[in-house]
Amino acid sequence: MLNSEIKIAVIGLGYVGLPLARLFATKYPVVGFDINENRINKLKQGNDETLEVDSETLKSVLVNNIDTLNLDSENQKYSRGLFLTRNVEEIRPCNFYVITVPTPVDRNNQPDLKPLINASEIAGKVISKGNIVVYESTVYPGATEEDCIPVVERVSGLKFNLDFFAGYSPERINPGDKEHTVETIKKVTSGSTPEVAEIVDSVYHSVITAGTHKASSIKVAEAAKVIENSQRDINIAFVNELAKIFNLIKIDTQEVLEAAGTKWNFLHFKPGLVGGHCIGVDPYYLAQKAQEVGYHPEIILAGRRVNDGMGKYIAGEVIKQMINNDLTIKNAHVLLLGITFKENCPDIRNTKAIDIYNELKSYGLQIDIYDPWANPIDIFREYGLSILSEYPENNGYAAIVLAVSHNKFKDINLLYHKQMGCVIYDVKGMLDLTTVSKRL
Ligand SMILES: NC(=O)c1ccc[n+]([C@@H]2O[C@H](COP(=O)([O-])OP(=O)(O)OC[C@H]3O[C@@H](n4cnc5c(N)ncnc54)[C@H](O)[C@@H]3O)[C@@H](O)[C@H]2O)c1
Repeated sequence: MLNSEIKIAVIGLGYVGLPLARLFATKYPVVGFDINENRINKLKQGNDETLEVDSETLKSVLVNNIDTLNLDSENQKYSRGLFLTRNVEEIRPCNFYVITVPTPVDRNNQPDLKPLINASEIAGKVISKGNIVVYESTVYPGATEEDCIPVVERVSGLKFNLDFFAGYSPERINPGDKEHTVETIKKVTSGSTPEVAEIVDSVYHSVITAGTHKASSIKVAEAAKVIENSQRDINIAFVNELAKIFNLIKIDTQEVLEAAGTKWNFLHFKPGLVGGHCIGVDPYYLAQKAQEVGYHPEIILAGRRVNDGMGKYIAGEVIKQMINNDLTIKNAHVLLLGITFKENCPDIRNTKAIDIYNELKSYGLQIDIYDPWANPIDIFREYGLSILSEYPENNGYAAIVLAVSHNKFKDINLLYHKQMGCVIYDVKGMLDLTTVSKRL
């Protein structure tokens, strides 16, 4: 298949799928499909609630009518652009299917492949001979060929690597990061045959300015992605453990890290909460696969345990500081600054700031949450909590916990509160030392 013959369908238009569909649409005809009608309707108006693609950029590729893409043209006179739909039939004319649906874990931290299986069924319903299905969702090595492709085969009735082919190209974007965007991050590609790997690589290479790295197999590409995030998780767990040790020794972790960081090969990681649906989730995928093949992962799961316990630990530290300041704990009024899973981003899924909230609540504290990035409706739907819409200027808080380092928090004058006897706990090491009572 030549690049000029490529007609792309992107299945799942979230943090990963939308920026990718937008980028592909600058060179190819693209049909973006999502099962969430509300998301499709908002995107059609140029409104991306994840804030990854701004309205002007999105509108510059959007087409209102699928016919303008000329997908049925026999002489490949297709038009570039992005048509959005939740009608499966409208992705049928495509020949290059990219699947970017979520890969969460269930309540027992086991991989939940339901969205991926469902998207594979959708692809199976519409693909025809010669088509390529590329997976981008983060999985364990083997998931594409062992779990997903059999579903595509079953539903389509087509034979893998004879009638249709597959690829895997993991996404590396970092939500909220305007510097490392989809086109400026080198992309790993792979395919189910050497020829297909070449086609997949060439399609991505045509839009990714940072270039591509063609892995030797789909499994290698899958493993590469899942270890990137596992490596970060383990390194953060290590500094979180250091933070607990240094806290007992009564030295400041940030100062230790700053001093150690002057060595050329010291790795720069900071302690903190590990939430979201990547770093805190992907290691469980790797761990599950390891166990399936008879290896019990020690370090990967230890890292997860340490990081998952940080919310509770931080809350305990805040309580100790309050006791030190002779503050009454029961019904004390506390402000939690930040509830999203990371800074400068509206994503609240699997946020660990909620662990701080829950633990403080269990001590009988009254907690206000302020987060200028979080959508109050999403917070209520997901966690049943109401959050303040404005920074509460004049409330006399017993403690303020900065949980997320949104840039907007830099402008808040917390020194005033500290002078009034309030405990200021800085999880992110963002505030000036004179302002804080304690930091992680
Ligand atoms: N968000 C990130 O920072 C990031 C970075 C790298 C990789 N990833 C990986 O990319 C994948 C997608 O993550 P995301 O953050 O974009 O998820 P997301 O939740 O933002 O978006 C997923 C979209 O897929 C849609 N969807 C779900 N099931 C579907 C189906 N069967 N058919 C069509 N649409 C469907 C949802 O409605 C949603 O709009 C995951 O595997 C994730 O681990 C995410």
